[in-house]
Amino acid sequence: MISRPKGTNDLLPEDIWRWHKLEELIRKECALFNFHEIRTPVFEETKLFQRGIGEGTDIVEKEMYTFLDKAERSLTLRPEGTASVVRAFIENNLQEMGLPVKLYYLGPMFRYEKPQSGRYRQFHQFGVECFGSPEPVLDAEVILLASEIYKKLGIKNVIIKLNSIGCQACRPQYIAKLKDELKKSKDSLCEDCVRRLDVNPLRVLDCKEEKCKAITKSLPPIYDYLCPECKEHFNKLKQILNLFELSYVEEPRLVRGLDYYTKTVFEFTVENLGAQNAIGAGGRYDKLVEEVGGKPTYAVGFAMGIERSLQVGGALWQKEPDVDLYIISIGDQTKEEALRQLRLARQKGLKTELDTLNRSVKAQFKQADKLKAKFCLILGPDELLQGQVKLKNMQSGEELQLPLGDWLGGIIL
Ligand code: HAM
Repeated sequence: MISRPKGTNDLLPEDIWRWHKLEELIRKECALFNFHEIRTPVFEETKLFQRGIGEGTDIVEKEMYTFLDKAERSLTLRPEGTASVVRAFIENNLQEMGLPVKLYYLGPMFRYEKPQSGRYRQFHQFGVECFGSPEPVLDAEVILLASEIYKKLGIKNVIIKLNSIGCQACRPQYIAKLKDELKKSKDSLCEDCVRRLDVNPLRVLDCKEEKCKAITKSLPPIYDYLCPECKEHFNKLKQILNLFELSYVEEPRLVRGLDYYTKTVFEFTVENLGAQNAIGAGGRYDKLVEEVGGKPTYAVGFAMGIERSLQVGGALWQKEPDVDLYIISIGDQTKEEALRQLRLARQKGLKTELDTLNRSVKAQFKQADKLKAKFCLILGPDELLQGQVKLKNMQSGEELQLPLGDWLGGIIL
């Protein structure tokens, strides 16, 4: 027996309808917000992610699926969507669409992480990326779009955690201060944080280890070090979120696992998801387009984890029946007419099925029940000779005798 690779899932017919519903919701909401879909390859040149996400990040250091193709090119299965969309924005001159350019994507991402509930090696994200505006109103739009989707998914108790991690002008001072302070307690930090101290000191702030938390608790918040421009941006963003009536929690220690962020960072979490409780996250990344080789371009975006969001959302959704109409034929001489009616029903937009296993009449009814068909069209040999059929409403049990050429009117879905 060959099993699926560790950390991957089969999406089975019994569950896929929930994915379709969420995708439909996402597409509708994106249209309301004037976002346009983009589809990029699932693999890219490795250096895109090294440069984009950052060499010192867990993703690039430990979690990428990197391989050489037959021509010895180093390629990587995308661990996230932002770097790819930035690459596509530059390569296809998308700024010509007129700024701001508002894009969204849906698809699989790949990270070699330790699998656990809510954490997979192949998972799916819906994400948005907006290019061209430095204004906090766009950060707010992204947060609002995400919130609307979580709300329509019926996810309660979503917490929006918000922070600003400054820009190239102000962050280095904070990092220097952080390094100084952390060095004093180096011996008490976890192994990972000792390493982070050199490569990515900000990450020490969101270490989950209690001993590290105890140390970082007393450190000054980054807000105190923000330059006037970053402070103003953050305060304006909060004002707009208030205007949108979105409540958020300021989280001075929220930093993200990807290096590209500037100013705004945020995370959506829910209480009842255990350790992997982030159902989405994002932020502003005003330097990334330039770093990937484009012209300086402001940008902000967000991505939501589809698996985690469906774990807590859509609980009240009802599956639509697979079949509106099941055609039952009694006797061989009705089978041809049954096929004609099948074709007609589908042409009229009814989800229709009939028996293809030569089942008995009783078994055909059983199958119609199993498929939760709303109606059965029953073709009996004698009635058919008189140009008649029976239409049975499977919910009420009501049966109507109708002309063969005019039974469709009896169907009310
Ligand atoms: P991220 O925080 O790495 O951000 O991922 C976003 C979301 O994807 C997470 O909040 C989580 O719901 C889901 N996710 C991440 N890893 C896994 C996994 N191994 N298994 C299941 N779900 C997972 C980004 O990817 C950024 N590109 C977001 C962004 C877009 N920032 C700006 N634009």
